[in-house]
Parts: sequence; structure tokens; C-alpha cells
Amino acid sequence: MSEGKAFYIETYGCQMNFSDSEIVASVLRDAGYQFVDNAGQAGLILINTCSIRDKAEKRIWKRLRELHAFRKKNHAIQIGVIGCMAERLKDELLESGFSVDLVAGPDAYRVLPTLLTEVDGGQKAANIELSAEETYDDIQPVKYHSNGVSSFISIMRGCENFCAYCVVPFTRGRERSRDPRTIVNEAARLFDEGFREVTLLGQNVNSYRWDADGVVTSFPDLMGQVAAISPMLRVRFTTSHPKDLSDDLLRVMVSYPNICRSVHLAVQSGSNRVLKLMNRRYTREWYLERVASIRHYMPDCTLSTDIIAGFCSETDEDHADTISLMQEAAFDSAFMFRYSERSGTLASKRYPDDVPDEVKAARLSEIIALQQKLSARSNRADIGKVLEVLVEGSSKRSPDFLMGRTSGNKVVVFPDRGNKPGDYVMVKITGSTPATLKGIIAAV
Ligand code: SAH
Ligand code: SF4
Ligand code: F3S
Repeated sequence: MSEGKAFYIETYGCQMNFSDSEIVASVLRDAGYQFVDNAGQAGLILINTCSIRDKAEKRIWKRLRELHAFRKKNHAIQIGVIGCMAERLKDELLESGFSVDLVAGPDAYRVLPTLLTEVDGGQKAANIELSAEETYDDIQPVKYHSNGVSSFISIMRGCENFCAYCVVPFTRGRERSRDPRTIVNEAARLFDEGFREVTLLGQNVNSYRWDADGVVTSFPDLMGQVAAISPMLRVRFTTSHPKDLSDDLLRVMVSYPNICRSVHLAVQSGSNRVLKLMNRRYTREWYLERVASIRHYMPDCTLSTDIIAGFCSETDEDHADTISLMQEAAFDSAFMFRYSERSGTLASKRYPDDVPDEVKAARLSEIIALQQKLSARSNRADIGKVLEVLVEGSSKRSPDFLMGRTSGNKVVVFPDRGNKPGDYVMVKITGSTPATLKGIIAAV
């Protein structure tokens, strides 16, 4: 009955979810479903969801309300909720009164065809079992999100760090690493297909570890193996936990110029008292020492971070510590959030969410304003440099311009002189904004 049924996937949340959607597309295609990139043509709509903050979940509820209204107008569609919110809120989703036929957690994607057979039979179907082993390592993802130049590769799943504010260990389960041979094969295949950049993904890539009969592959080992595929293949990784960022990794980065000069190192707070409550297991001093080490090995390396404003009991003094740490670390860019309590987490059980909303908002604004200045300064410092840029495609703003990224992950826009996505070009930087560099081609 489901033979040839058209399906559409909508993805929210982090890169891990985008990568998972490519796995889901692969599983369903192998089961005879047909992938479409337009919800209007689909008989089955899957929503791959995120639970990281309350706002992320509110957005999904809004979307489910819309889809429910759409189906009530006699559109014969099936609706499935997958991903982190499915894991966290299975019962609420099934009992919501909205049209939700299927709920599947992040480790249940192999059994989607079976679940969909139940749905075809008129039942609601759900599977939110988490696994200690599943890595989907034998599934060849369908790269439908991709620009044909850069791609993600999941190298591990789950997280066991239990940062006090974070829902991920509950939605994604035990940490497990994927067989390095399958990772290297996937990267090599992508390179052969014309891809020029891969980003190795995990919630804490530094704890990647594969033990095959006593032969251990660590994250630095894996990075080296992927980087050795070709000097023309850029390699990135995200995200590393500051407590585990080792000099071994930095040395491997130095020895491969095609490992990108950019590190994402989420700091969350600059206050030791708050870091302790957050269960981050490093101090401000440790963090700044890691930053110094990155800069020692790679003076041209960019640094990005995540910051949470208004965590439980955060005082003006704690906030001032975050501001001063931002200045000391001089981040090139940052993702900045207001603390959002998530039920089930350590913080929700132990600490009251006691920073008033307006205080959280004011602190977040101050953090964002400072980062604007730091980003502007970092980009201004590139003016006059000639940087290697990997072309990704046309600029969104103007078809006469191309856009690409530097090794430091900065976006560069420059006049189109006929280069194609996947080309490396040398661009002389002539101008900047806090978000973008502008330039002209210096050489190809
Ligand atoms: N594993 C990654 C983080 C993944 S979640 C790491 O540790 O680097 C991405 C970011 O969302 C986190 O770094 C944090 O800054 C933010 N975040 C997570 N839980 C949050 C919450 N409850 N409220 C606000 N921000 C949160
Ligand atoms: Fe969440 Fe911490 Fe794990 Fe990152 S390391 S996913 S913040 S628990
Ligand atoms: Fe969201 Fe799950 Fe990623 S909660 S941030 S989609 S791991």
C-alpha cells in the first residue's frame, strides 16, 4: 500500500538532526518510498524535532497545529514526529489531539518502515527505545540537504556528560562511537562524488573512541585518517567539550593544512561558580588555558562558542565574569541563548529557575552586543589579507556574487568570475561586516 508513497522531511535543531534526516531518507527510500522536497506533494510528512529550549518545542507545536488544520481540509496525509521531541514527549504528542500518526525517537529509524505499515493499517505507531549500539554506520545517507560541496558525517551518537541544563543525554541516550572504517569510507566516497568539505559530528567529539581488538582509534587518530584522504578535502569537526580538548588534537590539526583552522568550544559561562552548578567540569582558568594552547599551535585559528545567559542563581557578578571571559577569549563568533529550564534535567530538579525573564533578556542583549563588536573586530582584522576560499555557490543577496568560506569558517562574498561550487580560490579581503567578509579574487 505504501509502495511509492511520497515523503517529505522537515528538520529542526542541530546538525545532528540534519544528518539523521539523511539517514531517515535512506531507510525510507530503500523501503520503496519516494523522496520529495515539497510538502505539498507528500503523502507522508515527517518532522524531525528539537527539544533543546522551550522555544524550539513551541515552534514544533505550532507546526503540528498547522498540519492538523491542513489535514482536516481533507488532505490525506500521514504525519510523523521523529527526533528529540519525539523521544521526550511521546505520550503528549500521541494524545495531543493533533494529527500525529507516528512517533519515533533518534535510535528507532531503522524500524520506520515497520511502524509505517502499522500506520497504513489505521493504527498509531510509536518507538522511542534508545540503544547503546546503534550508529547507523552501514546506512548510506541521502545527501538531499547538501550544496554538493560540504557535508556532515556523524561519528558518534548520544551524550553522557549530563550538563545540568541540558536535555540531550535524555533524548539521545548513551554515548557510542561509530566504526572508523565506515567514517573514512563515507568521507572518501563524498570526496569522489565532488564534495570538498566534511564536518565530523558528535556532541563531544573529543571522547570519540573505537577499540578493535586492542587497537584504539582516538579522535585525533580519526581526524588524521580523514584528513589523509586528500589535501583537497577540508575537514572540520563539531563540537568539542573544553574539558577534553587535547594538545594531541591540536598537533594533528597543525600537521594537516586541510584540517580547518577553526574550533568551536562552548564555554557557557565565565563564572567558576556557575560552571560548577552547570556540571561542566572545567574552570574559567582551564578554558582560557585551552584557548591559549589553540592560539599557540595555530595563531590563525578562529574560535567560536556557545553562551547561556541567566542560568539558575546567576548574579550580576557571575554575568560580569562571562563578559570579561568573552573579552579575554576574543571569540570570533558565538551562539548565545537565554537559559530555558528543561524538565528532567539536573538543574530542573535541584535549582530554581530564579533569574527573572527581564534580567535574562538584559544580560543576553549585553552579551550579543559585545559579541557583535568582537566579531566586527575579528573580521576587520582580515581586511588586506589574501585567504583561501572554498566556493559554495551564488550569494543569496546578488546573483553576480559568489559565496564561500575560509578555513576559519568565515563567509566571504566576492564578484563571480565564473568559478564553480567546489573550487578553491584565493580572495583578497577588501571589506567586512560583523557577519561577512567581502573581497575580490586574487588568484585561482
Ligand atoms: N554538545 C554541545 C552542545 C549541544 S546543545 C556542547 O556541549 O558543546 C547547543 C547549545 O545549546 C549548548 O552549548 C548550550 O549553549 C545551549 N543550551 C543547551 N541547553 C540549553 C538550555 N536548557 N537553555 C539554554 N540554552 C541551552
Ligand atoms: Fe548537552 Fe553537555 Fe552533552 Fe553538550 S556536552 S550535549 S551541553 S550534556
Ligand atoms: Fe536539539 Fe536534539 Fe540537537 S535537542 S540541539 S536536535 S541533539
